[in-house]
Amino acid sequence: MSALYVFGGAITIAAPNADSMKRGQAVYSRTCMSCHQPTGMGLPPLYPPLAGSEWVSKDASIAVRNIVNGMQGPVTVKGVKYNSMMPPVAGVSDRDIADVVTYVNNSFGNTGPVVTEAEVAAIKKKYADRNKPWNAYELDPDLALGTQAKVEEIKPENAEFLPAIALQAKRGKRVYQNQCTSCHKDDGEGDDYSYPALRGSKIVALGPNVIVPIILNGLQGPLVSKGLLYDGSCPRVGAWSNEAIAIGNLRRLADRTSPNRPPDFSLQKSDIDALNHIEGDIADLVTFIGNSWGNKMKAVTVEDVKAIRRDNSRDKPWTVKELELKK
Ligand code: HEC
Ligand code: HEC
Repeated sequence: MSALYVFGGAITIAAPNADSMKRGQAVYSRTCMSCHQPTGMGLPPLYPPLAGSEWVSKDASIAVRNIVNGMQGPVTVKGVKYNSMMPPVAGVSDRDIADVVTYVNNSFGNTGPVVTEAEVAAIKKKYADRNKPWNAYELDPDLALGTQAKVEEIKPENAEFLPAIALQAKRGKRVYQNQCTSCHKDDGEGDDYSYPALRGSKIVALGPNVIVPIILNGLQGPLVSKGLLYDGSCPRVGAWSNEAIAIGNLRRLADRTSPNRPPDFSLQKSDIDALNHIEGDIADLVTFIGNSWGNKMKAVTVEDVKAIRRDNSRDKPWTVKELELKK
């Protein structure tokens, strides 16, 4: 709350006027308080604080944009992770927005700029096409990555294009629809907050050495994909895990071992068929993903999958950082 006087003319840089603050407080009580609390401290881990928030101090347009369109998905505020949703705030005029942001900027120990009605109108105009909540990374990439373990943007390998065998991709599509569509969607677009797109994904472009381990063990932790931040987990397909395969083999072994005969530990045709079936499904699936929706990748063979699976003895999900080293 300071005013700068230069010679005779006063240039007010950050002195909110009392009327605006008072109106802002009323708007705050009506439209923000239930979540961000009277103290501005929020309610971790559900509602992030506005008091001392780096998002509030970084740029007033962030609060304005959140009020107009809402915000959803992972975000770190003052070192605490949230992964929730702020709906757009209804029933507020440009002046209400200017007042409440000015109020938030200058309350709870915050000291930030005064926001005018004209500035609110300009921000709204600039983002007039926006019709869904913001992802933290869109609001501010630096803050979105924040204090978390560095989330690297993956650089694509020179994905070499050979036409996929159409039949293989067709089989792979069925596997995709059974195992992946529920989250990543039929069009491979996922969504902007919870499920990253596989279409045009740089992680997918890294190829089978990265995708097969994700399928076998899952993927967890923050990642940036196509300019959006995610922080969830991609479950492995349980029936395809090394444990499930080992248990299946034991069961088949038990089936063919009678009490009157010594156990037969040799690998039988049925074991090999079962394994080939799983590895074939994975090869088809990765070939489908790698060659759909504009993605380009070499066809993946059962032998590729076998080799990757052999090198992949692990019992927990991968992080992006670890997979990056695998490419
Ligand atoms: C229904 C609950 C709710 C209401 C009402 C609400 N918010 Fe939020 N707000 C949230 C949640 C939840 C997030 C984090 C969203 C996420 O996880 O991506 C958030 C995030 C924010 C952020 C960025 C993160 C931070 O903590 O600095 C700002 C700024 C913000 N809200 C301002 C406001 C203002 C100003 C109002 C009132 C005009 C308001 N919110 C009303 C729930 C709410
Ligand atoms: C229950 C929802 C769900 C299912 C089902 C699912 N995934 Fe995922 N997937 C996710 C989530 C969430 C992430 C982001 C994980 C993170 O934040 O670390 C992800 C990330 C990925 C990524 C990294 C993509 C990128 O660019 O960020 C790939 C590749 C992937 N999944 C492949 C698959 C495949 C293949 C299947 C089907 C066998 C599948 N997923 C099934 C939820 C799911």
